[in-house]
Amino acid sequence: MSLVTHLECARCGKQHEPARAYNLCVCGAPLLVRYDLRRAAETLVLNRMASRQPTLWRYREVLPITRDSSILCLGEGFTPLIHARRLGKRLGLPNLYLKDESQNPTGSFKARGLAVAASMANELGIRKLAMPSAGNAGGALAAYAAQGGMEAAIFMPNETPVANRQECVLLGAKVVLVSGSIKDCGREMREQLKAGEWFDVSTLREPYRLEGKKTMAYEVVEQLGGRVPQAMIYPTGGGTGLVGMWKAFEEMEELGWTSGTRPRMFSVQAQGCAPIVRAFAQGCDRADEWENPQTIASGLRVPSAIGDFMMLQALRGSRGAALAVSDSDMLSAMRELAETEGLLTSPEGGATLAALKKLLGDGFLAGHESIVLFLTASGYKYQEVLEKLTPGSA
Ligand SMILES: Cc1ncc(COP(=O)(O)O)c(C=O)c1O
Ligand SMILES: [Zn+2]
Repeated sequence: MSLVTHLECARCGKQHEPARAYNLCVCGAPLLVRYDLRRAAETLVLNRMASRQPTLWRYREVLPITRDSSILCLGEGFTPLIHARRLGKRLGLPNLYLKDESQNPTGSFKARGLAVAASMANELGIRKLAMPSAGNAGGALAAYAAQGGMEAAIFMPNETPVANRQECVLLGAKVVLVSGSIKDCGREMREQLKAGEWFDVSTLREPYRLEGKKTMAYEVVEQLGGRVPQAMIYPTGGGTGLVGMWKAFEEMEELGWTSGTRPRMFSVQAQGCAPIVRAFAQGCDRADEWENPQTIASGLRVPSAIGDFMMLQALRGSRGAALAVSDSDMLSAMRELAETEGLLTSPEGGATLAALKKLLGDGFLAGHESIVLFLTASGYKYQEVLEKLTPGSA
């Protein structure tokens, strides 16, 4: 069963047939999956969700897979939304929530997008998947490719945390280390792999990853009992999570889950790689490439993104903002999340708390508001960073 009606170009609006393998539209922009939401609303009913399975496949009506037998599942999604009482008290925020994405397979939210993309590839008979990755996405692709008996080729920057490289190798993927950033990895991948033989599942160059990631927003609304948070703070690299959640809010309105209010979306980047922050501040519709990107948050070392215009639209459309934080503020925030809430998050997760403090300090957010921070990956995947936080203890 699939309620996909068509795919639609995010820039030129051109419509494309459903149930096919796609990369970009003929105009070079990402494609968005569209559904018959009126039909979906007949069965996807907010107060009837409790009996469904605790994975992202509980939102089956708004996912693109046609046959259940195509689904590759390692238990992704439906991660806890934790009410951060101690941290909230310290910050004067009684309604602060943490979406703990470390509990996904392979320890990061990247499992969501890759579960859906690999399942779709499985359905369409694609056997060879290739991707440039800042780290976590590679591990997730390798895991689902292994489950589906497919081949995976992952191009990673040579500075990627060692755990990311090891997981990919152990999960049977072909790993190519490239000097430079994820952008250089993409270039290298397209040069090395023969066109047509490998399918490119790069962020937003493949339309189904976004569908997996959008489920974070469905979960937040469901877990808050149908309430929409007032603000969400999300660590942004390629932007699929941000753009996906914005799309989910549009869908939830049509499904009758929410009534038109959407959260303000805040994008956090690293001071050493902040192309979206710069473009947002300058009022631009597209973001120029960031020269010499540097940060300990490997997932945020993304100097340019094909979905830049979609991120900027979501940030402005939601009356949100984009802001950058320093690596040392990410480290302090990781420690604070660990000490106050018992959560070992990644630097990208730490970045959301560092951003929250700035937003409170600048008067962007106020104490009574309900706020969700997305802790996108487990700290266990960043041994090099943990070593900095606990020198000599290993
Ligand atoms: C832990 C972590 N957080 C955030 C991001 C950025 O995600 P997105 O591409 O959805 O902007 C990444 C990307 O690699 C990541 O690994
Ligand atoms: Zn187009």
